[in-house]
Amino acid sequence: MREFIHQLPKAELHLHIEGTFEPELMFEIGRRNGVKLRFKSVDEVRKAYAFTDLQSFLDIYYEGAQVLLKEQDFYDLTWAYLKKASEQNVCHTEIFFDPQTHTDRGVPFETVIKGIHGAMADAEAKLGITSKLILCFLRHLSAEAAMETLEQALPYKEWIIGVGLDSSEVGHPPKKFAAVFKRAEEEGFLIVAHAGEEGPPEYIWQALKTLNVRRIDHGVRSPEDPELVKYLVEHQIPLTVCPLSNIKLCVFDRIEDHNIKEMLDMGIKVTVNSDDPAYFGGYMDENFIAIQEGLHLSREDLYQLSKNAFEASFLTPDEKQKRIDELDTFMKAHS
Ligand code: HPA
Ligand code: ZN
Repeated sequence: MREFIHQLPKAELHLHIEGTFEPELMFEIGRRNGVKLRFKSVDEVRKAYAFTDLQSFLDIYYEGAQVLLKEQDFYDLTWAYLKKASEQNVCHTEIFFDPQTHTDRGVPFETVIKGIHGAMADAEAKLGITSKLILCFLRHLSAEAAMETLEQALPYKEWIIGVGLDSSEVGHPPKKFAAVFKRAEEEGFLIVAHAGEEGPPEYIWQALKTLNVRRIDHGVRSPEDPELVKYLVEHQIPLTVCPLSNIKLCVFDRIEDHNIKEMLDMGIKVTVNSDDPAYFGGYMDENFIAIQEGLHLSREDLYQLSKNAFEASFLTPDEKQKRIDELDTFMKAHS
């Protein structure tokens, strides 16, 4: 099964580039930029990755990002992730970035996006992995700050497929950002939002009805509301679920308690993703392996999860069909 999972053609739709920052690279970039971390070693950093909830993770995640200053830093970070993803047979990925984490420290928007975009273009040319970029607004900051960030993004519109919403969920409902998402949609961006990770089903409804999202990021609290489940199934709204993230942030106690299989069986279009793999103990293979072993998934379940991701992606209909044909060829060869 592990080899099957590794070989399975996969798409990743919920991945924060700042969450792929492995401690080794963090130290290397910190050293070359003359930025000191409060940790003395890679081991000490990894020991600090004991989280109790979303906020306890976010505090250290924003801290690590402080060493990123130059275009080359963002390039190196993105290249390292794309290389790793490609090695795990992820053939398409849609990457989140948090510009405010950097612009609020004085790093220009242009520096961030040029570094990330450069690595994405090189990875497509050299590794064959395709990717798209989604700008996330930090929801613990104001709606006005989000609007300013959107304005900064407009000159780079061709490099950004969509906008999303991340950071501290509870107390920052989607409707707080209604105006900025309306403007983003008018500018042609596709809309996604984190909702129902720690926040209630009501936040998922708001993301759907007020922000007009194409996908819900996380959404694992959906089964608490039967009407919402009915809506998600009827409209085939994808959920980008992140199993290891949910365990590390104590959304579920154990992988055996995770509801991804239950949601798959309900007919919800669920997908598997790694969220912040450097912090949560694994990339795509490790996430698939964890749920396969913990929830006893069959090869057909794994196939369906992968197919859902291609269907839920922002690829064109022709590109989606090509990936699904490749997935079907893979399945025929392995059954
Ligand atoms: N949730 C909210 N904000 C985040 C996450 C997440 O899973 N990862 C990085 N920022
Ligand atoms: Zn996330």
